[in-house]
Amino acid sequence: MSTTLPTSAVAAPAPGLRRHDAGVRGFASDNASGMHPDVLAALVAANGGHVGSYGGDPYTGALEAVLREHFGPDAESFPVLTGTGANVVALQALTQRWESVLVSSDAHVLLDEGGAPEHVAGTKLIPLPSPDGLLDPADLERAVEAAQSPMAAPVGALSLTQSTELGTCYSVEHLTQLCRTAHRLGLRVHVDGARLANAAASLGTGLGDITTAVGVDAVSLGGTKNGGAIAEVVVVTAPGAAPGVGRLRKQSLQLTSKARFVSAQLLALLEGDLWRRNAEHANACAARLAAGVRALEGARLTRPVQANGVFAELPTAVAARAAARVPFHVWDAHRAPGTVEVRWVCSFDTEAGDVDALLAVLGEELAASRGGA
Ligand SMILES: Cc1ncc(COP(=O)(O)O)c(C=O)c1O
Repeated sequence: MSTTLPTSAVAAPAPGLRRHDAGVRGFASDNASGMHPDVLAALVAANGGHVGSYGGDPYTGALEAVLREHFGPDAESFPVLTGTGANVVALQALTQRWESVLVSSDAHVLLDEGGAPEHVAGTKLIPLPSPDGLLDPADLERAVEAAQSPMAAPVGALSLTQSTELGTCYSVEHLTQLCRTAHRLGLRVHVDGARLANAAASLGTGLGDITTAVGVDAVSLGGTKNGGAIAEVVVVTAPGAAPGVGRLRKQSLQLTSKARFVSAQLLALLEGDLWRRNAEHANACAARLAAGVRALEGARLTRPVQANGVFAELPTAVAARAAARVPFHVWDAHRAPGTVEVRWVCSFDTEAGDVDALLAVLGEELAASRGGA
């Protein structure tokens, strides 16, 4: 019997294999999108033959070199599977087991990771106020002082998100102040960079300019929201800054044996400028959407629009009817009576026509609500 196996040939999707309408796009999240075709092609090219597992493959080796170009010659990198996994691995490596971590009160790590940092990393998270998602260096000192008591969990690290959960970006100056203050207080600094590409594109900087260069110790760098899928990487900017991170990755279930498929995706994004083009495109769509929302009677932008997320206040019924036509999430259902804050997120594959169609839906639903419908 022949044992010849197909190795790298990719068949077009067989009829009936696709279970969704690939022409439909919404604004629920930048992880509702699929993969950029170039990333998918890189994944296909990485298929076939046998290579080393657990990162001992040519793709992971090449990725390490590319990440050193972005984050500096001393950077070490550890591909992982999810953003939550990246955060959990990084925070464990940056803290002692009795220490706590300062975070924004809006942080994904605090609100949307199912308690994984507490449960898996075993670290206590201390939320700080963060208007529009941005932490104030002045709050770090107070929080560190307050945790001096023998009954408290002393603070070991600061974790900030760039771009933030509320679609804003820390400036280079703001980051420098945060890192300086944190280091003066003896804290290590982590960046949740699930959308670091969007921040760098918005600020017109490189990825290293807003991390390594300002004093960040470790980064959870996202590939999934940037056009990949199941592709994130922990970057440690200097040796020793996050001890044991490689071992902690395995203990935290984030070391995949077929790592080449994660690394190949990240390489496709980061070896050239695809990461920046994708992020710039998503940011530009958000800017187009924000401009349209400003012109709508009955809608109000609630946050500065600086990356690929747009937040706005809408009448509750309008939000519900519009979201039934074009998918997006209510971000905060408990604002002023009769209104909600909604979030629209643009992706690498959002088209200008998608934005205009959403604006048309919003315009219709707002007009209907004024007419008493
Ligand atoms: C800011 C931020 N950090 C981390 C994550 C976690 O990513 P994952 O869902 O892959 O765990 C997300 C996902 O939405 C996010 O928005």
